[in-house]
Amino acid sequence: MKIALAYSSKRGLLKEYLRRFPDSGKDSSDECFAEGDSPATINAVKQAIAGLGHEVRAIEADIGLERKLLRFKPDLVYNIAEGLFGDFRESYAPIVCEKLSLPYTGSGPLALGICLHKARCKEILTANGIANPSFRVFRTGDAIDLSGLKWPVIIKPAAEGSSKGIFDRSVAEDETSAGKLIAETLAQYNQPVILEEFLPGAEFTVAMIGNTPSPEILPIVELDFSQLPGSARKIYSYEAKWVWDTPSAPLRIFHCPAAISDVRRTAIEELAKRAFRTLELRDWCRMDIRLAADGTPNIIEINPIPGILPDPKENSCFPKAARAAGYAYPDIFAKVIQAATCRLSGGAHGAAF
Ligand SMILES: Nc1ncnc2c1ncn2[C@@H]1O[C@H](COP(=O)(O)OP(=O)(O)OP(=O)(O)O)[C@@H](O)[C@H]1O
Ligand SMILES: [Mg+2]
Repeated sequence: MKIALAYSSKRGLLKEYLRRFPDSGKDSSDECFAEGDSPATINAVKQAIAGLGHEVRAIEADIGLERKLLRFKPDLVYNIAEGLFGDFRESYAPIVCEKLSLPYTGSGPLALGICLHKARCKEILTANGIANPSFRVFRTGDAIDLSGLKWPVIIKPAAEGSSKGIFDRSVAEDETSAGKLIAETLAQYNQPVILEEFLPGAEFTVAMIGNTPSPEILPIVELDFSQLPGSARKIYSYEAKWVWDTPSAPLRIFHCPAAISDVRRTAIEELAKRAFRTLELRDWCRMDIRLAADGTPNIIEINPIPGILPDPKENSCFPKAARAAGYAYPDIFAKVIQAATCRLSGGAHGAAF
């Protein structure tokens, strides 16, 4: 097949940002580009897909995406693009594919938009009885009512990923610090802010490939927060992800497969499958799940385009889970392409959407 790999590089995101805000003085080291793909990732994915026997062209999902796709005329778009900017950015590449009637891997624009907006996602999960931490949403200008909360709480921007805006100091123990954090986060990220009940239990991340009704669940990854500096919060914060964990001194924060009982594993897997079905996700995704004080698994967050850093030292969970399942890096893409092809042809797992 001719496959276009649609990606968003850190450089491409910076270029687009400077086009919009020429006087911003930003550079690619800014937190705002943390979700962009590095040249190493783009190249590794391209090589992996080419190694499966496909003709691959890597295409930056910038404002020229439509033009470049029209020129290449792919049979399939493999979508790992973050999009451009704004709360709906991940929907951008799939919408272009929809417009051009090009088949693409992964979830559609609606599911991507919803999962990126954590508050909207939580509303849908809650309406469908899928466990997630209780929450309140604040928008600029709202009165900040913090009465009747269970403490501590965690405060995060509604539409970010890669732990942007989730710092070690994002957990608040009282109304004063929570109020201050909400105001700061609203001002800095220019989007709604979510306040969530802080779940004290163990944390897992669950990689999935395939489609409803029977997506494959890869071995569950457990996060080991004892690896963080002693005084740090037991969360996978921006500092834990990007500052304390480096390829030269990796934090051994992940255990895969998680050492959990069959009962707990089944509970986590069932929750992940229900969320996958409810949000109409497709082909692959990664869900962050954490236990409440009573041990009930709750969805923290859903990543329909999971991170796939190729270097094992970079501690990327999806490839780690794949390795634990006995899959090499290219097998991830082979399986996702197979899931997408099967779905698109209306095959066994294709009927759902
Ligand atoms: N309600 C909560 N209770 C406890 N910890 C939480 C809660 N919400 C978030 N966290 C912690 O903060 C981390 C980052 O949160 P979240 O997964 O929402 O952010 P993200 O930036 O979207 O992550 P990703 O990089 O996976 O896209 C979680 O992995 C978890 O450790
Ligand atoms: Mg997360």
